[in-house]
Amino acid sequence: MCGIVGYVGQKSVASVLLVGLEKLEYRGYDSAGIALVNSNELTVTKAKGRIAHLERALRLKNINGTIGIGHTRWATHGEPSQTNAHPHVNTDGTIAVVHNGIIENYLSLMEELIGKGYVFASETDTEVIPHLVDMYLKEVSSVQEAFRKSIARLEGKYAIAMVTEKEPEKIFFVRNGSPLILAEATDVNGEQELFLASDAPAFIPLAKKVYYLKNGEWGYLNHGLHLFNDKDVRIEPDLQDLKIDVGQVLLGEFEHYMLKEIHEQPDIVQKILTERITEDNKIRFDELELKPEFLAGVGRFIIQASGTSLNAGRIAKLYFENFANVTTDADYSSEFRYRNPVAGGDTVVIGISQSGETADTLAGIYEARSKFLKVLSFVNNVNSTIARESDGIIDLFAGPEIGVASTKAYIAEVLNLLLFSIYLAEIRFMMDESEKIEILNQLKKLPDQMRKVLTHTAKIHELAEKLKEKTSVLFLGRTYNFATALEGALKLKEISYIHAEGYAAGEFKHGPIALISEDVPVIVVAPKGEMRTKMISNLQEVKARKGQVIAVVSENDSELAGLADKVLEIPETPEFISSLLTILPLQLLSYHTALKRGCDVDKPRNLAKSVTVE
Ligand code: M6R
Repeated sequence: MCGIVGYVGQKSVASVLLVGLEKLEYRGYDSAGIALVNSNELTVTKAKGRIAHLERALRLKNINGTIGIGHTRWATHGEPSQTNAHPHVNTDGTIAVVHNGIIENYLSLMEELIGKGYVFASETDTEVIPHLVDMYLKEVSSVQEAFRKSIARLEGKYAIAMVTEKEPEKIFFVRNGSPLILAEATDVNGEQELFLASDAPAFIPLAKKVYYLKNGEWGYLNHGLHLFNDKDVRIEPDLQDLKIDVGQVLLGEFEHYMLKEIHEQPDIVQKILTERITEDNKIRFDELELKPEFLAGVGRFIIQASGTSLNAGRIAKLYFENFANVTTDADYSSEFRYRNPVAGGDTVVIGISQSGETADTLAGIYEARSKFLKVLSFVNNVNSTIARESDGIIDLFAGPEIGVASTKAYIAEVLNLLLFSIYLAEIRFMMDESEKIEILNQLKKLPDQMRKVLTHTAKIHELAEKLKEKTSVLFLGRTYNFATALEGALKLKEISYIHAEGYAAGEFKHGPIALISEDVPVIVVAPKGEMRTKMISNLQEVKARKGQVIAVVSENDSELAGLADKVLEIPETPEFISSLLTILPLQLLSYHTALKRGCDVDKPRNLAKSVTVE
């Protein structure tokens, strides 16, 4: 969602901030702004829409500064507009604040401030912050004290950065629930540079050392990092190496991040297999702090996640039940957090999240903890809040995912969950060595099989050309590929804006079949396996009603190829592994359809990469 950047250094501050904001564009935003301080004077520039608009506005003003903060806003309180864009300022424009998250008590604070004569310019919750600091500055002598007093008044989740004319050499910051990272670098002249940002890609390629702030930590940047904990005790930040390299966040030869990330999938699968499977075919999760004796005794898993991550979780439910013989539920985090689940002490709650910052998934984890249940999370960002709040974590190893439509994280989630289920099956004595080795051997074929699927682009282009005219598309699948149907539909709708729904094919007759017409294509996911014959029946039902069928089938399935209007082929593999292949042509199909409709594939309308508010 929103993005924050801040910079203190010798380079052109406006340029560093603009580049940082561009790197955070993928998070989703609808307006942007920058506050620069130069010779004790604060200048705020804001624009609705893309960062290019902000850049134009800055060029017209022809200003720069020695320090500055910037923000990309994804509207929550108040429409996307220049007025509601951050930074927000106090009445005389001497204090500027950028903020991610939500100030839950902003209405009561606003009332108090209005009672003291403050006038609000925007509809945002953020604007209370510069006015609060202004109010406290009338009582205390330093900005540091006023900032501290102000943040003590805030309820909710936030990451905040602030600059002022009163102490123009400092950027103040605090983290409480929303991520914020500090970074340090040395420029070519050996001078120190300091950064802050809501997400690490903003620093690339400048900073190499980072510090992930913990909740309650606050401080300021000027000549050095000045950090305090929530008890106001000064602490030394323990800087770590930034483990993202430039190549991971640059487009390279690809036109879009989504396409790049789709094509990275075979290598990611290879990496996961190499990291997780030892030479003597043992499955290992080195980072997992939950002991095998504990996991062997778990009576039930509740998987809770959102969007694509939940689709991966739905497949995992089948893996856990079929291989490890353990009762498993998979639920939307947004439902789980409110449904007061009945769960015994031997229940483990699993969170799955690419970003590790999804508000609902995090709330689900807090819900589990309130019931004293252990939490295991599968995350792509091991420094995220979800990772920190969990008893055990499993790293997805997908590398930074920039495209808003999740692709490689999904594959990494499904594969790690599959490997974890095999690990569980082993420690619970539900799988013998030969069965395990057979599965692992099949998995080792996956990278090449995936590469093969990704080369079938001619057919995808042809189909995308047809699909781009449609207003509605249905996806059908069963068991492991029911999730593929859901995920295929999610991909298509989120980037091409074509209405798409995924259904469990057995439910088709119970309602959705009424939608069939020549204008509503049906994508039937029917690789070889137990469900294939059932899927053929569904396909026939569509054809009998003059529906157009695109089928995702195993290679050389001439029977299905003869029944469908078009087929997309995947190499033959056991059904439980097939969902790692069947999704690939559907990702490509969504991508090319969206492109042919002129959609902004990497920044689809209204969507944010990580949904950090409820
Ligand atoms: O970061 P998370 O995995 O927790 O995100 C969950 C969903 O917001 C995410 O998967 C979303 O559905 C994607 N845009 C799907 O492509």
